[in-house]
Amino acid sequence: MMNKDLKKVLLTEEEIKNRVLELAKEIMDDYKDEELFFIGVLKGSVIFVSDLMRCVENEVTMDFMAVSSYGMSSQTTGVVRILKDLDFDIEGKNVVIVEDIIDTGTTLKYLYEYLKKRNPKTLKICCLLDKPERRKVDIKADYIGFSIPDEFVVGYGLDFAERFRNLPYIAIVKEEAYEK
Ligand code: PRP
Repeated sequence: MMNKDLKKVLLTEEEIKNRVLELAKEIMDDYKDEELFFIGVLKGSVIFVSDLMRCVENEVTMDFMAVSSYGMSSQTTGVVRILKDLDFDIEGKNVVIVEDIIDTGTTLKYLYEYLKKRNPKTLKICCLLDKPERRKVDIKADYIGFSIPDEFVVGYGLDFAERFRNLPYIAIVKEEAYEK
């Protein structure tokens, strides 16, 4: 039974699984037999990056980054705080940033520019969910799982006050749950 704070399932476990497999195939087609370096952005992308990397047959190494926005100011300044940086040098590597969601685009735009300066061979973005209506800065992912409407979604790594990250599906939160 679904939690009382959730309105409905937006993407089922099966739909996500199938799409993750398709994204992995797109990545494999683009990179052929080249080695890849995945960067998972904590914490939302944890489930997605774990599933995605197991569907990619290339040689894959990976690391995590932790970032935090400065609240409202990050949307105007575009500055994002790096809480955990990479443990490895990415120069000359085929880097894929793996994110759960692009909302305003602030986080990914900043991360992309930040990592580009370290001279990776290639730098791409793979994002499970995209909310194009919410975009404030110009950034596009190279691989997008699903374009979704502007609803508060949780599950498969995404949270509402740290809850629901463990749901195997993606669901919409009821308005009354967060407007209280
Ligand atoms: C979410 C998401 C992205 C960012 C997207 O992270 O994982 O990093 O917000 O928003 P933007 O496009 O407006 O920048 P959040 O800060 O909720 O942290 P979490 O992944 O740890 O839940």
